[in-house]
Parts: sequence; C-alpha cells; structure tokens
Amino acid sequence: MTRILSISLSKGGVGKTTTAVNLSAALALTGRRVLLIDTDTQAQAGKALGLRPERGLADLMMGHADFAEAAVEARPNLHLLAGGHRLAAVKQVIAEADMRQEETLSAVMLPYVAHYDYVILDTSPGWDNLQINVLFFAQEILTPVNLEVLSLDGLIEFTHRIEDVRRYHDVVLRYILPTALDRRVKQTAEIMPQLAVHFGDRVCEPIRYNVRLSEAPAYGQHIFEYDPQSNGAQDYLNLTRRIVADE
Ligand SMILES: Nc1ncnc2c1ncn2[C@@H]1O[C@H](COP(=O)(O)OP(=O)(O)OP(=O)(O)O)[C@@H](O)[C@H]1O
Ligand SMILES: [Mg+2]
Repeated sequence: MTRILSISLSKGGVGKTTTAVNLSAALALTGRRVLLIDTDTQAQAGKALGLRPERGLADLMMGHADFAEAAVEARPNLHLLAGGHRLAAVKQVIAEADMRQEETLSAVMLPYVAHYDYVILDTSPGWDNLQINVLFFAQEILTPVNLEVLSLDGLIEFTHRIEDVRRYHDVVLRYILPTALDRRVKQTAEIMPQLAVHFGDRVCEPIRYNVRLSEAPAYGQHIFEYDPQSNGAQDYLNLTRRIVADE
C-alpha cells in the first residue's frame, strides 16, 4: 500500500523542504519507490536535489504534460514532480472547477500513486486552495516545528484546520518533528514538554541544529550525499526508521 505523507505547517521556514527532501532521499536509499511532489511556487525541493526541471506538477495538473513527461528521476528510486511559479495558474484552475475543488489534486494523482511506496509532499507556507487540496490528497501529515520560533498557538490553529478537513477526508496528523533543536536555548527546553502534553508520542526525536543541513542544498545534494557522517544525516535516518516502522 502506498503511503501519502504531507510535510505541512502554515508557518514558513520551519524545515518542511529540508525534511521532505532528506526523508525522501533516505526512503529511496532503502530501496522504496518514492515520489516527491513539490507544491510550492518557490521550487526549492528540486533545487535542493540539483534539479530545475522544465516541467512539473503544474504542467501535469493543467494537462500540458503527461505524468512521464512531468516527473523526473531525481535519484534511483526517487522521482520528482517539481514545483514552480506556474502553480499560481493551477490555483486559478482549482478555483474555477465546477465541482469538488478540494479533490482536484487527488483526481489528477490517482492513476499514478500505486506505482510508489511513498508519496511525499513538500508544501508552501500559508494557506490556499492548493494546500487544502494537499490535505485532501494526503493520508498522513508530518508537521515540522522550529522550537526557536514556535508559537504553540499557530500549531494548534493548524491542527484545527486538519480537524475541519477530517470531516470529509481521512487524514491524520501523525508526526510532530521538532527541528533545529538547540538545547542551549532556554525556550526550547520549555517547549518540548508542552509539545509532549499536546501531542504525546506523536512527537518524534528532534532534528538537531546542524549547519551541514543548511549547506547541502547549495550543492544540489541531499544530506546523505553531502555529509553522511553529520548529525543531520543521523537524525534524518533516525526519523526514517521511525516512519518505516509504522508501515
Ligand atoms: N536542522 C537544521 N539545522 C540547521 N539549519 C536548518 C535545519 N533545518 C532547516 N534548516 C535551514 O533553515 C532554513 C529553512 O528550512 P526549510 O527551507 O527546510 O524550511 P521550509 O519550512 O521549507 O521554509 P518555507 O516555508 O519557506 O518553504 C533553510 O535555510 C534550511 O537549510
Ligand atoms: Mg520550503
């Protein structure tokens, strides 16, 4: 069975793309077939893998390319449907659909998901009809939270939005992933227990602050290529083990 996992939080700069790219890479390295879909107009996921494909998700959704043209093989076992500014036009198409606007992405993707073990979605910050489509397509959500800038309020508001979607579509917030953890910062020590109170064992082992994670995208490499010995590689491997254990 394919797992469809979205990396989502309305807040920007929390580690969504870093997580989507490195988790996808780690899953592919285990031999699982992975499709990484970038639903962000900034197209950062492709860039982080050293790719700027001409075609991507927007072309598929607009009917300008078929799946084989729109998806590129980024690495062995890892296919990418790239994001990009043309997704702005997709939002217009969704808004003009006569029926079931929220399921536009699901309907387009349905024929292709069974080919993969994992579909991982990188999402943009903010909240728009494409992000709603992502939640209607996903089965599971992983929410990265940056402890240094975390507003628990923002996170709880996001969980309410998921609850709204759950009235129509079966999706669960399954993983909360603290990112860029720096235990020297007092605030992080205060927030971890609060996260545990709200989310219990859905809180994953944190991804530590690791400068190698922030350097790798400039080289077009994921962390297992750029520095497999780094804390960042270790932490993302650890996360991958946890997710795989839930198969
Ligand atoms: N654990 C970490 N240690 C150090 N730097 C990190 C870590 N995780 C992410 N970063 C860096 O923090 C910045 C924001 O991360 P990222 O781009 O993954 O966030 P995002 O949630 O995708 O942002 P956006 O909402 O803009 O799409 C990037 O420069 C990234 O390289
Ligand atoms: Mg991003």
